[in-house]
Amino acid sequence: MQFERKDILDIESLSAEEITFILDTADRMKEISKRPVKKVPTLRGKTVVLFFYEPSTRTRSSFEIAAKRLSADSISISSSSSSMVKGETLADTARNLEAMNPDVIILRHYSAGAPHMLAKLLKTSIINAGDGMHEHPSQALLDLMTVREKKGYIRNLRVAIIGDISHSRVARSDILGFTKMGAEVVLGGPFTMIPAGIESLGATVAGSSDDAVRGADVIMMLRIQKERQQSFLYPSDREYSKVFGLNPERLKKAKKDVLIMHPGPINRGVEISSEVADGPYSIILDQVTNGVSVRMALLFLVAGGVRNVDAD
Ligand code: CP
Repeated sequence: MQFERKDILDIESLSAEEITFILDTADRMKEISKRPVKKVPTLRGKTVVLFFYEPSTRTRSSFEIAAKRLSADSISISSSSSSMVKGETLADTARNLEAMNPDVIILRHYSAGAPHMLAKLLKTSIINAGDGMHEHPSQALLDLMTVREKKGYIRNLRVAIIGDISHSRVARSDILGFTKMGAEVVLGGPFTMIPAGIESLGATVAGSSDDAVRGADVIMMLRIQKERQQSFLYPSDREYSKVFGLNPERLKKAKKDVLIMHPGPINRGVEISSEVADGPYSIILDQVTNGVSVRMALLFLVAGGVRNVDAD
């Protein structure tokens, strides 16, 4: 298929065919990262702007590494070092950036819909690197890539997503992504952190964390997003860990070849014990590795690589 999208804004608007195409492209990109010289000239002459309004370790660095591996020039701007601190709006800032002719703007913003607004406003390609509590499409794509790589398929897998579902853009994108690809998604966590009507995205809600874990092929643990919570939604970290956290005892209820995932950053001893996070079923660092490949694929696809030049 030809991938003709200008922007990558969410998983909701991507078809299963488009997701598969992105994952196939990411698989090919992975080979580049294994070479002694991890660089191809594919996006030489292209300019990528990383515009992050919220902290990030994985997403920001992997987009930057991805751009460099494809020979694109990249610059990084944070809200605190931009003229937004002087009162400039996001739209005006983006228009000014576009006046310098970048090819791609990667935006992480605390407001849901901010990347969609820029995508309408600008001719430049926009990639959503996480918008508020809405979506984090590149995270879901790297999660899908990692599961497909480890299991060989996604369809009919039982995927448990456990934790602070309400405040998690990763949860929304993963629910949409895994269900589109034919997996069964089960949600677990405190009921105060599971939004009403979430089943409309295609997931079911388990009665307890044990129920969510039971028979799971994949378990995705989520951090409690204290920075987004308006009030205390659980009594203490200790109690949360006991009732909802993933520890070796709870893990026994999953399938024997279960995959343990986490988008990061992890809070050891809260949602996941160190024995599980660092244990033999954990693929948390494989997710991070594949983040570079997925982001290389996204840059390649939106920056005209597929239409104009060959990947090699
Ligand atoms: N998973 C994720 O988005 O991590 P960062 O916040 O470190 O980018």
